Amino acid sequence: MILNCDTPLGPHRIIAEPGCLRRAGELLNLRRRVLIVTDDGVPADYARTVAASCREARIVTVPQGERSKCFETLQELLRQMLDFSLTRQDCVVAVGGGVVCDLAGFAASVYMRGIDCCTVPTTVLAQADAAVGGKTAIDFAGVKNLVGAFHFPPVVLIDTDLLRTLPRRHISAGLAEAVKIGLTCDGELFSLFETDDPLAHLSEIVAQSVRLKRDVVSRDASDQGERRVLNFGHTIGHAIEAARPDLLHGECVALGMLPMCAPAVRRRLEAVLHRLGLPTCLSLPAEALAQTIAHDKKAENDAVRAVLVPEAGTYEIRMLTVGDLLRRLETIQGGAEKP
Ligand SMILES: NC(=O)c1ccc[n+]([C@@H]2O[C@H](COP(=O)([O-])OP(=O)(O)OC[C@H]3O[C@@H](n4cnc5c(N)ncnc54)[C@H](O)[C@@H]3O)[C@@H](O)[C@H]2O)c1
Ligand SMILES: [Zn+2]
Repeated sequence: MILNCDTPLGPHRIIAEPGCLRRAGELLNLRRRVLIVTDDGVPADYARTVAASCREARIVTVPQGERSKCFETLQELLRQMLDFSLTRQDCVVAVGGGVVCDLAGFAASVYMRGIDCCTVPTTVLAQADAAVGGKTAIDFAGVKNLVGAFHFPPVVLIDTDLLRTLPRRHISAGLAEAVKIGLTCDGELFSLFETDDPLAHLSEIVAQSVRLKRDVVSRDASDQGERRVLNFGHTIGHAIEAARPDLLHGECVALGMLPMCAPAVRRRLEAVLHRLGLPTCLSLPAEALAQTIAHDKKAENDAVRAVLVPEAGTYEIRMLTVGDLLRRLETIQGGAEKP
């Protein structure tokens, strides 16, 4: 599958084909200096495969985990870019999950006012969600993605064969984002999670999530309106993530979606999350979460903008009062936590 998504901010081509990493030399423009960024949890072979196709490459490996999305690692990358004499005609290739794509993309967006950064996402979350749409960022002062830029990769190479080495917990967490886009924009994609084994349909699910996100992004590249639907589950999800660093982003999004669904949809979503081994309840006081959310950047005059799902495949955006939010949060309170 090849999708072109020409945005006002530049061309954005997404190639999703199992095995396409082996064709990196033909699909990416690597006839220049290429700084490959990866992390120490990503199998090293993936970055080496890209390097083998380049005329002149250097691989930089950062420590795995969210903590690498920081100024120190950004500086280290910029230093490596300078040391390797990258010019505006050269490029960065990110080989890794959302952390590597966000970090390398942001470094490329500021180096010499912006050089190309192609991405080879290697997690379900990065393939189905993060790699599409040009958002890059690092975290600062305890706030996720506070410092960032829109910087569209000219080419995104999605090779679902690379997911074979990804631990099961990360596969499920990434699928939460696919459930998100299905539940809000495509009832059929959501039904697939109810009727089939998602692991047997990973490539299809990734491809369909990418198509749906591409459609939303191409209508609202700079996040002024429609793109807000992609925040479904994230207002509450981000607050949970801040309080519970032991949970993965996708696990927090899973929890964050439940209170935003109409009761009948919520029951269906709960069943899907159970099947994926994702959490459906949490032992955190609702008041503390509501407080965090009210202080969040999305709060306007004591009301919080939220994406709600009245029916699978549809959504509406409404302002919720903190009281309403509290009542909704009670639906995920108590019970035994899983996993
Ligand atoms: N830019 C966006 O639009 C966007 C959207 C959603 C999320 N994000 C960001 O993405 C980040 C989370 O991304 P993530 O879930 O991919 O986490 P991640 O990048 O931390 O990867 C998860 C773990 O899997 C390892 N890994 C990666 N690929 C592997 C593979 N193929 N085999 C084995 N191990 C592998 C990594 O080393 C890491 O330890 C967050 O920082 C989030 O803010 C960005
Ligand atoms: Zn997300």
